[in-house]
Amino acid sequence: MYDINKIREDFPILSRKIYNRPLVYLDNGATTQKPRCVVEAMVDEYYNVNANVHRGVHFLSQQATDLHEASRETVRAFINARSTNEILFTRGTTESINLLAFSFGEAFIHEGDEIIVSTMEHHSNIVPWQMMCERKGAKLRVIPMFDNGELDMDAYKRLFSKTTRLVCCAHVSNVLGTVNPVKDIITIAHEHNVPVLIDGAQSTPHFKVDMQELDCDFFAFSGHKIYGPTGVGVLYGKEDWLDKLPPYQGGGEMIKNVSFEKTTYNELPYKFEAGTPDYVATHALAKALDYVSALGMDNIYAHEQELTRYAMERMSQIDGMRFIGTPSHKDAVISFLVGNIHHLDMGTLLDRLGIAVRTGHHCAEPLMRRLGIEGTVRASFGLYNTKEEVDALVAGIERVAKMF
Ligand code: ALA
Repeated sequence: MYDINKIREDFPILSRKIYNRPLVYLDNGATTQKPRCVVEAMVDEYYNVNANVHRGVHFLSQQATDLHEASRETVRAFINARSTNEILFTRGTTESINLLAFSFGEAFIHEGDEIIVSTMEHHSNIVPWQMMCERKGAKLRVIPMFDNGELDMDAYKRLFSKTTRLVCCAHVSNVLGTVNPVKDIITIAHEHNVPVLIDGAQSTPHFKVDMQELDCDFFAFSGHKIYGPTGVGVLYGKEDWLDKLPPYQGGGEMIKNVSFEKTTYNELPYKFEAGTPDYVATHALAKALDYVSALGMDNIYAHEQELTRYAMERMSQIDGMRFIGTPSHKDAVISFLVGNIHHLDMGTLLDRLGIAVRTGHHCAEPLMRRLGIEGTVRASFGLYNTKEEVDALVAGIERVAKMF
């Protein structure tokens, strides 16, 4: 059973007061709060295990290495990748995409080539590709979007040409909550022999993702959005692809042999992991994945969907409420504007009531331009949010609206 009160006890921060009011944390799209098991794993490792991984013959180094590599296996199982060789640890989704943009660009992109992205991408799935396009003389093509926040799939099919080299698309929009039809996006790209990167930063925390079922070629996600620590993330890549890509950064761990004449590179996954990894964070990420797995991703999804439906229904009764993004398949993200109230005013005044939401362009300026707005207020739910918190949000919005 999904015992929300018991779950909330695992997250000490949720009992904090903000301006003497109970915290209502609805900024889970930006980052999630951490359960005790995650923080305790970090403290325990620093206190009792800490040593550099892959480098020492001594006991502690072996133990830290075992924890780090066991975490890779936990990630592999969590996303159902075929092999731990396909799991690269990075600092987060942004670094995962930058890694791919660099390495894929070096290996496969030439002047005149095209990369497809969508209108609703986060800057981190636009800018690395633009930088790569500038280096290589390639260009971006953009999948257009309907007003309700769904991608125009017919237009997508028409974007392919002989020079299309890669498709990069968000699984879930961080602004609109749109769950994109990534299975179709991938199938269509593969019909053109074009590989696909899925940005899973906003999907992985909310529902089960399965690499073998999706059949995407690359998939990126962040630890801190799935109740894990900051500073760690994952790039999944099919082994065949990763084998063909050159390293992203040079340094320790990614080499086989170094001489001044020539360096040879390590095997997967280490070829892409230069420098001391954040092995404490990888271990804690595994704890977070164990935590959500024990609750059950399907149960988390059901809980958050119920909450989203309830919130949309209650919020739609507020005078002047305008939802930004009403796709048929929507995740636990609600962007909105009320009357003429500026998003920043709404967010600041909600904060005074202890309600944490995000405001602004949400690192998706091209999407804002497409929608003809400067920004939105965004409430994004996590596994510990409650209907009472939705009620507090609705009461808060109504109270702010009365002030204008
Ligand atoms: N990408 C994160 C968000 O949408 C930071 O808030």
